[in-house]
Amino acid sequence: MPDEFHSIDPQTLSRQEAHRLLLHCVSPRPIAFTSTLSPNGKPNLAPFSYFMAGGANPPSVVISPLTTRTGELKDTLRNIEATGEYVINVVTYAIRERMNLASAEFPYGVDEFVEAGFTSLPSVKVKPARVAESPLHLECHLFQIVHHGSGPLAANYIIGEVVYFHVSDSVWVDGRIDALRVDAIARMGDNWYCRAYAPAMFEMSRPQAVSASPPDAARA
Ligand SMILES: Cc1cc2nc3c(=O)[nH]c(=O)nc-3n(C[C@H](O)[C@H](O)[C@H](O)COP(=O)(O)O)c2cc1C
Repeated sequence: MPDEFHSIDPQTLSRQEAHRLLLHCVSPRPIAFTSTLSPNGKPNLAPFSYFMAGGANPPSVVISPLTTRTGELKDTLRNIEATGEYVINVVTYAIRERMNLASAEFPYGVDEFVEAGFTSLPSVKVKPARVAESPLHLECHLFQIVHHGSGPLAANYIIGEVVYFHVSDSVWVDGRIDALRVDAIARMGDNWYCRAYAPAMFEMSRPQAVSASPPDAARA
């Protein structure tokens, strides 16, 4: 017997309830620890799990800093809108607590590198710094910002082009990234996270190309 389903029309939910449901349904999500600079050069660092890669020609990524519950724009969005540059740093299990600390809503202009105890490394093609404690850094140029909705919890999709990659020696084996060494974490619903490490990982290769089935008439 198939399961019974609870069918939910998002129009019957509060924004908070819809947000909570979405976070469970689109899960686990990788975390883009995003470094930016304000127009007057103040560093900012914050995690975003509304994060995906969307293509490789050119390498393309999306994050979405939501409009806040009070209808304001987050510092990361303001900075990227103003400067067009940012760095996405992958979050590992080792830095989970400091990443969480950096997510606190500090006043605009407070440097989360300092507040959460991270070390900045200079970037190559953009001005915002990289996070030394993360093993993978993506330097990005803004391509486009797409606003979907308005007011509290509205989406602000920041589409970016990756213009430079940095891979730490700690995860680089024979000229490629060893997935078993990255130890990334991902965000789930409520306060749940998961960890991409050996006991939770498995490999599965793609199927071979399959030829199309003959039309019904040919089969008969
Ligand atoms: C793991 C994690 C993931 C988060 N993902 C998002 C997200 O995708 N979008 C968002 O608006 N806020 C997200 N937040 C909350 C922001 O990090 C938080 O609002 C932060 O203060 C924003 O900083 P900013 O104003 O300096 O940009 C997340 C927080 C954590 C801990």
